[in-house]
Amino acid sequence: MKREQFSSSLGFVLAAAGSAVGIGNLVAFPVMASKNGGAAFLIMYAFFVFFICLPVMLAEMSLGRHTRQNPLGAYTEIGQNRAWRTVGWMSVITPFMIGVFYLVITVWIFGYLAKSVMGQLNELAAPDSFGVFINSNELFIYMAVVIGLTFLILQGGVKQGIEKASRILMPMLFIMLIALVIYVMTLDNAMLGVKFFLIPEFDKLTGKVLNGALAQAFFSLSLAMGILITYGSYIQKNNNIVHAGKMVAGLSVLVACCSGLLILPAVFSFNPDIQLSELSESSIGMIFMFLPKIFLALQADIGYFGASFIASFFFLLVFFAALTSLVSIIEVPVCSLMDGKGVSRRAALYTLGGAMIVLSVISALSFGRVELFSNLLSYGGLDKSFFDVVYDIFYETILPLNGFLLCLFVIYRWKKHNLDAEISQGNSTFAGSVLQKYVNFSLGTFIPLILAVIFVNTVSTIFFGKNLLF
Ligand code: PHE
Repeated sequence: MKREQFSSSLGFVLAAAGSAVGIGNLVAFPVMASKNGGAAFLIMYAFFVFFICLPVMLAEMSLGRHTRQNPLGAYTEIGQNRAWRTVGWMSVITPFMIGVFYLVITVWIFGYLAKSVMGQLNELAAPDSFGVFINSNELFIYMAVVIGLTFLILQGGVKQGIEKASRILMPMLFIMLIALVIYVMTLDNAMLGVKFFLIPEFDKLTGKVLNGALAQAFFSLSLAMGILITYGSYIQKNNNIVHAGKMVAGLSVLVACCSGLLILPAVFSFNPDIQLSELSESSIGMIFMFLPKIFLALQADIGYFGASFIASFFFLLVFFAALTSLVSIIEVPVCSLMDGKGVSRRAALYTLGGAMIVLSVISALSFGRVELFSNLLSYGGLDKSFFDVVYDIFYETILPLNGFLLCLFVIYRWKKHNLDAEISQGNSTFAGSVLQKYVNFSLGTFIPLILAVIFVNTVSTIFFGKNLLF
């Protein structure tokens, strides 16, 4: 069977940007930036994106396009031994498991969207509403809808499914984001939020903050999850990988900045005297507990209907972002199963979908409903739920490990000259350029080193309760 392809470089850029732009850019980034030095954080974040993440991104895309394979196939074909094949397996299982927790969060977002549309914003803004919602039965209806939509997109394949959805959803997402930014700027005290976001405070950039910024950049660009290897395997040979990679990285940073200009002005117009400590710790707290209150407060100006409209608009925006990310992450195991076993897309979707539904239901039940799942394990001095365990193992721990192994694989196993040759196809100026030297050097030296340090420190912090670095 001929491998499916994106119709053009733009098709790939939109699909990869769809993967990159997610809850991370829209919510986690503004929360982190506002707490950790504003523009100073932004500058460091952009620096990490272009100097550390971009080379990894180019490596993944090239590996995919060269082998025309999913990550497991790519590691197996070039690695030629059992150890590398195991790494290939990790690159397929990781996105599958991250997909499980990302699906649960996407379902929550969809639920909040549905409830705002149905006029229940006042309920969402009530103090215990989130806790009640995540343990409600209606959650499973929302889960069915989200899974249905994701399947529908993936069933369409690369061009008619993934690319088409991205071509529709991504431009809408950009327009909605800009419209919301313009709207919040008209609110009283919005400028306080802009100032808060944009005034740099370099003394806040501690080692811990920098580690957080790098982890955020890495996650946000969908690295080390096999996504860019898989999407890379659908890129045409004459497309310019460097150009496409820069576009995706740039779009991701741009959306993160715009989102800061949306969320912080909204927070400050709600309460101009807000203190740093009152800003929610996590993006989950921000989206599901803090923002509904802010939206509801808008009713003083624009009435309940207006406030519900703005809330729905915002949740729709986040939902689009999350859906395209979810699609990209599930495509990895789907593609692996299709390549590896020669089964049809539909069969792969049903098999993996079934397993994913079971695990997602278990995750959804692990917030207090079922004792076994809610207190699954205890490590690092804390009790952990099934959801926490999946998050800690796959997102926090294996992601940097996969990144580390990928760098070693590309530079020392596949070899630099093969990487260069692949990137040079469709880019005649790459060979001999400063970028080429930088990519080769960084991927073989300090990038894997940094990822290895993060990995070791994460294991020690999470599982043994001892932070070695900070
Ligand atoms: N880039 C996504 C985000 O920022 C992260 C992600 C990508 C998660 C793909 C899952 C799948 O939210």
